[in-house]
Amino acid sequence: MTSGTRASNLLEALPGRYYTDPAIFELDQRRIFQRSWQCVGRVDALTEAGQFYRVDLGEESVLIVRGRDGEPRAMRNLCRHRGAQLCTEDSGSFGTAIRCAYHSWSYDLDGRLLAAPNMREMPDLVKADYGLHPVRTEQWLGYLWLNLDPEAPPLAAQVEPQLNERLGDGVLERYEIARLGIAATISYEVASNWKAIIENFMECYHCATIHPELTAALPQFRSGYGTISNGASAGASFAEHIDGFSLSGRASRPNLPGLGPSDDRLFYGITLRPNVLLILVPDHVAVFRLEPVAPGRTRVVVDWLFDRETMAADGFDATDSVELLDLTNRQDFEACERCQLGMRSSAYAAVLVPAEHVITAFYDYYLAAIAEPAVRPGLAG
Ligand code: FES
Ligand SMILES: [Fe+2]
Repeated sequence: MTSGTRASNLLEALPGRYYTDPAIFELDQRRIFQRSWQCVGRVDALTEAGQFYRVDLGEESVLIVRGRDGEPRAMRNLCRHRGAQLCTEDSGSFGTAIRCAYHSWSYDLDGRLLAAPNMREMPDLVKADYGLHPVRTEQWLGYLWLNLDPEAPPLAAQVEPQLNERLGDGVLERYEIARLGIAATISYEVASNWKAIIENFMECYHCATIHPELTAALPQFRSGYGTISNGASAGASFAEHIDGFSLSGRASRPNLPGLGPSDDRLFYGITLRPNVLLILVPDHVAVFRLEPVAPGRTRVVVDWLFDRETMAADGFDATDSVELLDLTNRQDFEACERCQLGMRSSAYAAVLVPAEHVITAFYDYYLAAIAEPAVRPGLAG
């Protein structure tokens, strides 16, 4: 990516069309989002048999349904008769069975075909052959992850190399994210391509300009080098005058129970390609999921997770912590939206300065991911 015409410490950014062109967005969907593990929601979000929520992964609609055995299962939102979407609501309850509103084929909560009108006249309709298409699921960090690709490697192959490179062994485990509860969720509609949001998260060259509150808490970020861009794998240390990652700087609750002294007063920001971001601080964790909606539109859903016992205690209030990150997010997303507007210009030709060179690791991943894949049996490109 190095330009022959510029000084060697400036690297060319990806051309603007990668962020604006519908054909590239389509490629992102097919080559990345339909083949990678997607974090879709907390495992314990569904509490009763028959409860469901719907997830749209690009054009593909998936239902997550809690079965009678308590397990959440994922299946395509696609009737096996004439292909009607079974459900257009975002969430709710199917009761004891999933019934198609068109001709009343009905399916068990685990996706098996139960009945169809006039079934006795149709000996060729073998129930076992017409169940709803299952979607692969895994559970990690207390979240349900889906993969539309039946051939994809397991989730660990997607996330472990990234975690080992960034955090090293055992750090994430100490936060025990699967045991935490959600205190707040904010969904942001951002007028930016999903890749620009990831890239912005990776660099801290912008921090001194747009994040006065964040850099007051984490003075190291004023340098323009974050914990990734300076090559360090450690977290960023809190400023001396603050005790907690909150707008006031106060620590209003104890550290998460699994943490040790080496985790105290540290902030970690981690990118889990393609589209999950984690923030770890001593008393809570934030999980970001990016849902690409269109070339220039991304929904970012952020959960703030705390220790359940701490949440149950009298006087628990997460507002102060939520406010600092929420403010930072809004500053970031506004900057991404400005870039998205600039990317439409015919004169767009951006460069990465040294503090942003870390972004080229994302380019390498991304360009390899959308490249023509080796032909795999049973999968049309
Ligand atoms: S399309 Fe669903 S029952 Fe006919
Ligand atoms: Fe930022």
